[in-house]
Amino acid sequence: MKIDAFFTPHGLAPGDLAGRGVVVIDALRATTTVITALANGAKAVIPAATSEEAVRLASNLEKDGVLLAGERRSLRIEGFALGNSPREMTPAAVAGKTIVLATTNGTPALLAAQGGDPVLVGAPANFKALAERARAVLVERGDLVIVCAGREKQFALEDAYTAGRLIKLVKKGLRRLGLNDAAHAALGVVDQFANWEEALAGAEAARQLADADLAEDVSFAAKADRFGLVPAYANRRIT
Ligand code: MLT
Repeated sequence: MKIDAFFTPHGLAPGDLAGRGVVVIDALRATTTVITALANGAKAVIPAATSEEAVRLASNLEKDGVLLAGERRSLRIEGFALGNSPREMTPAAVAGKTIVLATTNGTPALLAAQGGDPVLVGAPANFKALAERARAVLVERGDLVIVCAGREKQFALEDAYTAGRLIKLVKKGLRRLGLNDAAHAALGVVDQFANWEEALAGAEAARQLADADLAEDVSFAAKADRFGLVPAYANRRIT
């Protein structure tokens, strides 16, 4: 039985995760945003690699039911209906809609996980439910992969901390469990912080969000277990 963690998706080639159970984490902010949108009634979220791809994907969908969302340098992409703030994903904004989302790190990480089975979308916002589901996958398959979105192709503290807490919970009581080096390191991150708030607030991404006047997104993302749903990504859609 083993858990492999990746601190960024950049070492992964298409097909590398085919058939493996995967959790994708981008706590600040993409996976928090996806979970919030679906919890508030969005029909589906379609991740896109770039804003151009998002526009192309949206043009193939019924106009009334689709919303373009995404960020560059934390800010809403010009011409898009929504940014990447979980606080924008209100029932009034997203219920019944399909959201095509393009972000700097989160949606590329989701795309890199394509072919995984299942691909679960995780964040502090759905942590308890995520841990239950991830443990079931690990016990059933003997294998679990955790892909952190990271930040600009680098390690991101908030994702590593979330991955570490997930590994800690999921592995409880399991014997003969192998961890790759990144999974070991993620476990080591957990003890450096007192709680979700401290870990997320300490991240570089939190500073970037504060500079963009989006510090409230960090507090939003750090409130664990807001939602009991664990979205899954399959056939290019997260539902
Ligand atoms: C991303 O996916 O790159 C992040 O969620 C960036 C952000 O919107 O803060």
